[in-house]
Amino acid sequence: MKNTLYIEGGYPLHGQVRISGAKNAALVLIAASIMAEGETILDNVPRIRDVEVLVQLLEDLGVKVGWNEDGSLSICPPAKLKTRTSYELSKKLRASNLLLGALLGSQSEAQVSMPGGCDIGSRPMDLHIKGVQALGAEVDLEYGYINARVTKPSGGRVYLDFPSVGATENIMMMAAKTPGQTVIENAAKEPEIVDLANFLNSMGARIRGAGTDVIRIEGVSTLKAGRYAIIPDRIEAGTYMVAAAITGGEILVENVIPTHLHPIIAKLQETGTRVEEVKQGVLVRAVRPINPVDIKTLPYPGFPTDMQSQMMALLCYAQGSSIIVENVFENRFQVVDELKRMGARIKVEGHTAVVEGGTRLCGAKVRATDLRAGAALVLAALAAEGETEIEEAGHIFRGYENIEEKLKNLGAKIR
Ligand code: UD1
Repeated sequence: MKNTLYIEGGYPLHGQVRISGAKNAALVLIAASIMAEGETILDNVPRIRDVEVLVQLLEDLGVKVGWNEDGSLSICPPAKLKTRTSYELSKKLRASNLLLGALLGSQSEAQVSMPGGCDIGSRPMDLHIKGVQALGAEVDLEYGYINARVTKPSGGRVYLDFPSVGATENIMMMAAKTPGQTVIENAAKEPEIVDLANFLNSMGARIRGAGTDVIRIEGVSTLKAGRYAIIPDRIEAGTYMVAAAITGGEILVENVIPTHLHPIIAKLQETGTRVEEVKQGVLVRAVRPINPVDIKTLPYPGFPTDMQSQMMALLCYAQGSSIIVENVFENRFQVVDELKRMGARIKVEGHTAVVEGGTRLCGAKVRATDLRAGAALVLAALAAEGETEIEEAGHIFRGYENIEEKLKNLGAKIR
């Protein structure tokens, strides 16, 4: 397994890059497909490790899953599925928790392995559990598993204390097939939530309000499988946009939905980077000097936490100090120590990081501590002096399709 990336920095990236389907939409749509009758065909599914693990999880439950010649993914669940998810596979993929709502919707029971803590902080399930309980599920926690069963399913009202993406998705999936009306208040508004609603509605579900903070769902008795194309990945797009800015290059980022990118575009423009919406996508042109900017991560449409580390890499090269406040995850500054190995000057105090710009980073041996930290190290390395060796790059392949090839096509020296 390829697990180390070597990058020689200092080459401005130029050209076009085509963005793949969204990881976070693909994961939830694949999970939701087990609720449909018949064969679901998904287009634009990224071939990344997280998707591979979820496919294995489904196969382990008895679902027939296969890649077609045209690159689409077919998912064909039998009427009766196993309802206990594998611990061995679940521990590799936090999003395995999305099988809770999908299994409850299709089988009325689920035994889902509790996702462990992860590198970006504790990731509790309380909101997911509160949600499925409101729809009639009885839940107990035993030996690392969430055991849920629903004997009297009935729609309900759920107020989320925080607009959790995963909890909103689990409740939407279960509610799609639960009789009566469900209302989710303070729901997550991410584009991937809207994609899930559109997908479920294309199968016959009745979901309104996705993309706003109140989602209303009328349960239906069956969902009929069909064909559906996943939205492009806004975080992958944002990462290549930063690649243009950080290396002093110019990249046409193709196959994007520009409105999904607005929070990222706005911040990049504040750094002075030129971003133009064109017919094929967004054209990003680096400008020097890079202005320092302040960033607060927030649920959508705020600035995405999944782009925070990549922006931090860029701000290391800015002319002045920037302040980054991480409001979504409790421990998402692990990349700081790795960037410091490359010469970055960053101070962290609780949820706040102060990035002192103005130094060119130098190549070093570093470690990808999580997916987006890994992406940030790739970006920092592309602009650094000399060679950077990124260990544990497997984290990066969890979420970026063909990253090596895509960067090479743009002129990066990466292997
Ligand atoms: C999803 C994304 C992830 C992204 C995150 C925030 C997928 C597969 N992953 O993760 O890439 O970074 O949204 O945009 O779509 N929380 C609770 N209790 C819960 C659930 C969540 O306290 O029951 C907290 C979490 O600890 C975290 C915050 O809510 O601090 C946000 O988490 P959430 O939106 O649920 O993220 P995920 O769905 O796990």
